[in-house]
Amino acid sequence: MKTKIKQAADFILSKISKKPTVALVLGSGLGKFADGLKNATAISYSDIPHFPVATVEGHAGKLVIGEAGGKVVVAMQGRFHFYEGHPMHAVTFPMRVMQAIGAVDLIITNAAGGLNPAFKVGSLMLMSDHINFMGTNPLIGPNDSDLGVRFPPIQGIYNKELINEALKIGKEMGAPIETGVYIAVTGPSYETAAELRAFRKMGADAVGMSTVPEVIVAAHCGIKRVLGISCITNMATGESETAANHEEVITAAADAQAYFLKLVETMIERF
Ligand code: HPA
Repeated sequence: MKTKIKQAADFILSKISKKPTVALVLGSGLGKFADGLKNATAISYSDIPHFPVATVEGHAGKLVIGEAGGKVVVAMQGRFHFYEGHPMHAVTFPMRVMQAIGAVDLIITNAAGGLNPAFKVGSLMLMSDHINFMGTNPLIGPNDSDLGVRFPPIQGIYNKELINEALKIGKEMGAPIETGVYIAVTGPSYETAAELRAFRKMGADAVGMSTVPEVIVAAHCGIKRVLGISCITNMATGESETAANHEEVITAAADAQAYFLKLVETMIERF
């Protein structure tokens, strides 16, 4: 793993002149942020040694390194999901590579279903915490202590100061912004109504199929601060007669984009 991370990192570093300090993961329908980066270098995942290849609709599949808010950022336009069949070490490999090329902070985003009835479609939820309900963990297996500790603490990884700052900025611009707990499931089937009711009772406010593996690995490999933002693309309270569908998720994420783009840019400035 160490050699693979180094080969991928060296390849990326050979294409850029300034090292990024902020990593950004852009979820379903939120990839547009990377198009606005200045002096950008875009690298297809398929060109980077040992990177898996993204398959999901709404995910472009490239790494874009460029400037925003006065910082150099490395943005993943499209991510790898466990439900695509990638093993957990592949899903989280880019996190280790982004850390290896210089990232110390992470903004990670996703599309999620709203479990909290006070949320609306289009709300942005700042992740105060997560529940790993994927039934596995990306750190299972032998631990290489050069990459991180055997039992990394995860508590506190979602940085409270960043959340408060983002909440303030979001409110100032009039965005429907909330904080809450994200529960991760494997998917790809959407949840049953009974599952959604159970997740709500467990204390979750939004449900999605990503982010948690990446955040666990970010904590393991030494990323210091994480800001997680869920875009609520559909309500998932278990009360509607119809389940979520992928088109609805992509459309709602696109609609929430204006607030999202501005919030992310402003937060990068404040890092
Ligand atoms: N469930 C799981 N993942 C999701 C959802 C949902 O309702 N919406 C967007 N991603």
